[in-house]
Amino acid sequence: HLPVDVDITRLAPGQQMVAVWQGKPVFIIRRTPEELASLQNAELSAQLKDPGSTANQQPGYARNWHRSIAPEYGVYVGICTHLGCVPAYIPPQGSGPEASGGYGCPCHGSKFDLAGRVQKGAPAPYNLPVPPYAMASATVIRLG
Ligand code: FES
Repeated sequence: HLPVDVDITRLAPGQQMVAVWQGKPVFIIRRTPEELASLQNAELSAQLKDPGSTANQQPGYARNWHRSIAPEYGVYVGICTHLGCVPAYIPPQGSGPEASGGYGCPCHGSKFDLAGRVQKGAPAPYNLPVPPYAMASATVIRLG
């Protein structure tokens, strides 16, 4: 498989896009400072199944609180870790940390935050995986 270059020039803060890599959807999220703050919010973290991502669903460079290379950009394989449905983007609503968006699985209701971390009580066992990727430039994400 050749690497896939994704141009993120048009991805505005607070938006996400879906790329395709090896036949799989990959969510690319450009997080605002408020959204990044929500990822570090202790109350919200207490609602996560695996807040520290200890299930090793990411390469070494994404073993950090934002689960990515650059905090601003999140890159996650968009396949639910329960039975493989594609979670739908939930845009942020209102203000405050609890209002930031995430992803909801249409099949059995698993919810994921903007770092692909699954909430407690969801049937999905693990956070969304981080694919192998690199920042080829400030505006290009190279998948694979
Ligand atoms: Fe996503 Fe079951 S496949 S919750």
